[in-house]
Amino acid sequence: MSSVLVVGGTSGIGLEFARMRAGRGDEVVLTGRDGHRADTIAKEFGARGTALDLGRPGETAAALADIGRVDHLVLAGVSRDDNKVTEYDIDAALRLVTLKLVGYTEVVHTLTSRMHDDSAIVLFGGQAKERPYPGATTVATVNAGVRGLMNTLAVELAPIRVNAVHPGVVGDSPYWQAKPEKVLATLRTETPTGRLATMADVVDAVDFLLRNGSVNAVELSVDGGWLLG
Ligand SMILES: NC(=O)c1ccc[n+]([C@@H]2O[C@H](COP(=O)([O-])OP(=O)(O)OC[C@H]3O[C@@H](n4cnc5c(N)ncnc54)[C@H](OP(=O)(O)O)[C@@H]3O)[C@@H](O)[C@H]2O)c1
Repeated sequence: MSSVLVVGGTSGIGLEFARMRAGRGDEVVLTGRDGHRADTIAKEFGARGTALDLGRPGETAAALADIGRVDHLVLAGVSRDDNKVTEYDIDAALRLVTLKLVGYTEVVHTLTSRMHDDSAIVLFGGQAKERPYPGATTVATVNAGVRGLMNTLAVELAPIRVNAVHPGVVGDSPYWQAKPEKVLATLRTETPTGRLATMADVVDAVDFLLRNGSVNAVELSVDGGWLLG
């Protein structure tokens, strides 16, 4: 049985990963900004939920004080930022940059002493870094930053393994499910597999990155070959 912490586990891919691991018998803690809501969601499948706001890194140590040993750490939290450089919204940009780059790093810093040589970490980026769309200014920047973060953590924390997953458009995730079918259909035609990645595909990839003892400092794209479409 592994001890698993999923940061940003109340929704979407993080939630599906937490549910899968709890179903496998692991001890799972998931986080969201509202601790009561996170715990209510987690209890549905035998996990525990707690409050953590990645946008307030100075509060992370206190928020995670009751977390014990961590075998597998998944950093999936995100806030959406539709930002064009021509209409740059500095506050929105600062929120996402803080959340993913400083927030993810501070979670790792806080938990280092609770990890061990066989622990593993997965950071969530995304393919907007390779195939940006109008409004992706901050998202693309931050996703590219995840690569640097992964590399430096893999060196600094060795032998703890640190990998990153970069989903393309995940068609059944809450964010994309809310989009018009026409948008999704166009994206499907641009994807060599003829289908969009699913949350189950990404969960499977994250699980692989955490379990395989020789996969380290790898950026795994889960996008059906979208960049070639
Ligand atoms: N969906 C896609 O197609 C796609 C594509 C590329 C990359 N990704 C990446 O995959 C990951 C999961 O995406 P998703 O679409 O499944 O996510 P989602 O459904 O939007 O869920 C986001 C999660 O982040 C948490 N969160 C939001 N603001 C937070 C904050 N300030 N501090 C801590 N947690 C916060 C939310 O919890 P609360 O609201 O409870 O706080 C929620 O659990 C993200 O990192 C995203 O960038 C997704």
